[in-house]
Amino acid sequence: ITVQVNKPGAPIAKTMYGLFFEDINFAADGGLYPELVKNKSFEIADNYLTGWKGINGAAALKTYTVISDRPISATNNHFARLTAATASPDAGLINEGFRGMGLKQNDEYTFSVYARRGPGNVTGLTVTLEDEKGKMLAQSQVSGLTNEWKKYSVVMKPSATAAKGQLRLALNGAGTADIDVISLFPKDTYKNRENGLRTDLVQLLKDMNPGFLRFPGGCIVEGRTLNERYQWKETIGDVASRVPLINRWNMEFKHRSTPDYYQSFGLGFFEYFQLSEDIGAEPVPILNVGMACQFNSAELAPTTSTATSGPNAGEGHNHADDPTLDTFIQDALDLIEFANGPASSPWGAKRVAMGHAAPFNLKFIGIGNEQWGPQYLERYEPFMKAIKAKYPTINIVSSAGPSPDGELFDKASKRLRELKAEVIDEHYYAKPDWFRQNVGRYDNYPTTGTKIFAGEYAAQSVAIGSPDNKNSWDCAISEAAFMTGLERNADKVVMASYAPLFAHVEAWQWTPDMIWFDNLKAYGTPNYYVQKMYSTNPGTTMLPVQRAGNAKNGQDNLFSSAVADDKTGEIIVKLVNYSTEARPVAINLQGVKKLGKAGKATVLASNDLNAVNTLEQPTNVAPKEESFKVSSSNVTYTLAPNSFTVLRIPGKR
Ligand code: AHR
Repeated sequence: ITVQVNKPGAPIAKTMYGLFFEDINFAADGGLYPELVKNKSFEIADNYLTGWKGINGAAALKTYTVISDRPISATNNHFARLTAATASPDAGLINEGFRGMGLKQNDEYTFSVYARRGPGNVTGLTVTLEDEKGKMLAQSQVSGLTNEWKKYSVVMKPSATAAKGQLRLALNGAGTADIDVISLFPKDTYKNRENGLRTDLVQLLKDMNPGFLRFPGGCIVEGRTLNERYQWKETIGDVASRVPLINRWNMEFKHRSTPDYYQSFGLGFFEYFQLSEDIGAEPVPILNVGMACQFNSAELAPTTSTATSGPNAGEGHNHADDPTLDTFIQDALDLIEFANGPASSPWGAKRVAMGHAAPFNLKFIGIGNEQWGPQYLERYEPFMKAIKAKYPTINIVSSAGPSPDGELFDKASKRLRELKAEVIDEHYYAKPDWFRQNVGRYDNYPTTGTKIFAGEYAAQSVAIGSPDNKNSWDCAISEAAFMTGLERNADKVVMASYAPLFAHVEAWQWTPDMIWFDNLKAYGTPNYYVQKMYSTNPGTTMLPVQRAGNAKNGQDNLFSSAVADDKTGEIIVKLVNYSTEARPVAINLQGVKKLGKAGKATVLASNDLNAVNTLEQPTNVAPKEESFKVSSSNVTYTLAPNSFTVLRIPGKR
């Protein structure tokens, strides 16, 4: 292998390796967002008591109900009314959490509730944290209820750890009390933020040194219908007033039944921006282009406000009160103002009021997720024009559809290039061998003009959408091989992210996923480590790599790419050996200057292509580091069988 250190190519984009976040597989509620109470405000219209049940054997509990009567606010207008004919420790409710509540021994949890008393002599509430067998782990009292809504808070410390705890609330005394916005929130959040995020999961992301964070999805941006689309404006401001919405991934399937999947929006757009900042990633919000998910429905926002009689009349399955495209465009303009605008601007003021005076410095905005065809382009164009007219420096990420090899995809890509789109978001979910065979996918893409965002990809061990897909080493090493092709074409590909990011082991709809977790623990898959080895070794400048005899990258199952890191003065070579034999390689660092004496190798390997990581064996396939000798510009190194290796060699270009 010859690395042409003296023929450097283009700079590597700082955004090159990043993250794709979607609220799928309990990634937000029940995952990254650590609120432990499910349906804390009784606002899930399909069943206002989702997640709650009356205490068993509650003979004295006359009734509990959810009604509207002087509610807390106009948007949070349902609450629970508890009535007990006689005092009983059984008069109350239990919340089940998200597949239970993860409670840690001696950690602190803030319980809070809005409450008021009604007729009778209720003096307060007994709050109990229990394990799944009902054993008490902590108990506190809320007292001094008045006739008006008031917030009460108490800090609780479980005496033992429980992976599937629950919260029990019981009335003290006989009579009536109303309760709402019931929260149990760990004090331990990333950066100790109020309404913060689950520490271990954020840490796994931060450890990756991600270049960007794309959010909030995925199909969730689109919604199954336009009415169920993601609306960022509904996700900011007072957390208690955010109204939940059915999750597009709410579904009943064998192995992955999640018919109780709603978005609380406790993790909303402000929190996504803050998370991006915390992990050092460029925020990349994706907005609805005015189309529902094309796999589910044909709902389209009319492109003109007179669509019932104009050229778009009859288009899709619209409803009379559906918003027109202008609403969607305005949402995008307002989002940019929310992220970057001054305190004197209406939307900038809302960001400042939420505690972030400085702008979030938003540079990218995505218009539509995985959408295709003329209906997409027709909506994309006015979007693009409006954004560019007001914010010429914002980079627009556009979509070209789900099938990167289809005719519609090609047509969309062509048109988007004509429109001078900055970045096209390509998605591919395919078998592992597709990834190894398509390592040259970008070799012939134009180096000028529109760039590529490999926005969602993952090798599927069985088939796309199969519940039996595994995060096997075969999938991960094939992705590592493919990524040498991304890196070798970093003048065309400027962003890349594996998808989906997170999955709860007991509540998922999609496999494979990069990080799996339960209520207490989390682990990175082999795919996570592949991504991490790229994103923590991105380099700053492309270096061409040539194989002896002009073999193509990937021929005979050896895949390679190289970059220079001008900040540290190192040459970084990435090598994938997809074979059962160890493989000695000779690397000629052509024209290298100031060569050091020892390099560092990070090796991810397994002899078993079916190997996976699990909660019990989280590092079954995990990187190991070793140093190796460098005696001349001809570096020799032996690659382990079935391995992905990153070599960092001190040397300048
Ligand atoms: O990553 C899961 C889904 O795959 C995303 O929501 C969608 O964009 C794609 O089809």
